[in-house]
This record gives sequence, C-alpha cells and structure tokens, in this order.
Amino acid sequence: MLTITGLHAGYGRLRVLHGVDLEVGDGELVAVIGANGAGKTTLLRTISGLLRATGGEVRLDGARISGLAAEKVAATGLAHVPENRLVFPTLSVDDNLRLGAWTRRRAKDNGSAGRDRVLELFPRLAGRLGQAAGTLSGGEQQMLAVGRGIMARPKMLVLDEPSVGLAPRVVTEIMRALARLRDEENLTIVLVEQNARAAFKVADRVYLMDRGRVVLEGTPAALLDDVRVQHAYLGGGYSAPPTDSGS
Ligand SMILES: Nc1ncnc2c1ncn2[C@@H]1O[C@H](COP(=O)(O)OP(=O)(O)O)[C@@H](O)[C@H]1O
Ligand SMILES: [Mg+2]
Repeated sequence: MLTITGLHAGYGRLRVLHGVDLEVGDGELVAVIGANGAGKTTLLRTISGLLRATGGEVRLDGARISGLAAEKVAATGLAHVPENRLVFPTLSVDDNLRLGAWTRRRAKDNGSAGRDRVLELFPRLAGRLGQAAGTLSGGEQQMLAVGRGIMARPKMLVLDEPSVGLAPRVVTEIMRALARLRDEENLTIVLVEQNARAAFKVADRVYLMDRGRVVLEGTPAALLDDVRVQHAYLGGGYSAPPTDSGS
C-alpha cells in the first residue's frame, strides 16, 4: 500500500531524513517509534505532502505521491491526523467531523455513514455533537481528531503521536479504535508514537527511527528484546553504560 524508498527531507539547509525506506502492506498497522527529534513528524509530513522530499519517493497503492501538494495527496486517499490533536476549537464537534469529510472520495456518501462510524468507535463523542470542540477534554479532542481523519474514508491513515498527554485508559481506547479500523475495515495505518508500549500492543510491525534513519524493523515481540528499543522507551536522555576502555 505504502512504499517509501530512500526518502530525504528537511527544513531549508537542515537535513532531517537521510534515506528512509519503509513499507506498509494493505490493511497493516505499522508503528514508527523513536526518541524525540528522530524525524518521525518530518517523515509523516513528507508522506502527506506538507513537506517536500528532497530525494527518494513515496508511493501509495503504486502511484507516486511524493511531489504532490498536500490536497492532492489527501485526494488519493491518505488522511493525516497531525500532532497536538488539532481541532477547530470554536466549531462544534459535528462541524469538525463534517470538515473531515470534504476530501472524501465517495461522493454519494453525504458523510452521515462516516459520522455514525466515528460515534460507534468513540461513543463519548455521541452526546457532544453540538458542543464546541475546544471545550472537550484532551482525550475527547484526540478522538475527534482521529474521527475527522476517518470521515474522509481514507485508504490509509497516518497519525502523529495520538497518545501524548493522555491518561492510559484513554490511550487504550484510541489504540483499540485503530485496531478495529484495521480489523473491520482493512484500513492501512501508520502510527507514529513515542509511547512505544502502547504502540506495541496494536502494531503488526514496528520501525525504529534514530536521527533521520530507520535503524530497526520487526514484529513487536522481536523488538521488545532489543536494547535500542529500550533506549527509545526511555527517551533521548538515556545513554548506555560506559564501555571498559582498558584503563
Ligand atoms: N519546522 C521546523 N523547522 C526547522 N527544524 C525543524 C522543524 N521541525 C522539526 N525540525 C527539526 O527536525 C528534527 C526532527 O524533528 P521531528 O521530525 O519533529 O522529530 P520527532 O517527530 O521524531 O520528534 C529535529 O532536529 C527538529 O528540531
Ligand atoms: Mg514528532
């Protein structure tokens, strides 16, 4: 479904991605983990066309999407749920969801089926459709941000750290919804997370990024034993014990 080959990107003269290769199969839920600053957000922004690749390519369902503007990428069926659960705070929950449907590919659907699905996945939003999104709790806002992403009926959903700052119980609810979207709709998902523990529970495969490169890839079970993954769990501040230099 998604094939990324030798991807380079950055900000002006700052190069952040140094040749990322990554593949996501149809209906697969792949997690991308790594310490703060590893380039995870940059990778997602490059996939969804918000940032221009300076080398390599991204293909979605066989078609090259790198080089396309973000609206064009969205129109091919890729939905991006950005970091910091961006919702329109003064608009109602319902209007936020409607805005998510504007790029939908199936013109016949007026969006109500999508909304029903969102409310089924996140029942807490059901009683709050008329409420201003800015007055929701952090967890509810994240559910709304995810819900808005699936309103477009995408083939592929990419999410940037949906668990940040949320209570473990809410994180579980969101991860469960992602697993259901994969299992029940065969939705292909890329989940960027610093919360590796949460991501490992639902991911089929995991990529570990470090300083703009993929350094490890495998199943959650295989990666759990790896010291580099334990490093990622602990964040950027962790450093390995000093090696004996023979003094
Ligand atoms: N808008 C930006 N302008 C300049 N540098 C940026 C910008 N966004 C991120 N960076 C830099 O790119 C690197 C990777 O950041 P990012 O992709 O946000 O990492 P992660 O999401 O893994 O924490 C960091 O060194 C960060 O400072
Ligand atoms: Mg980030």
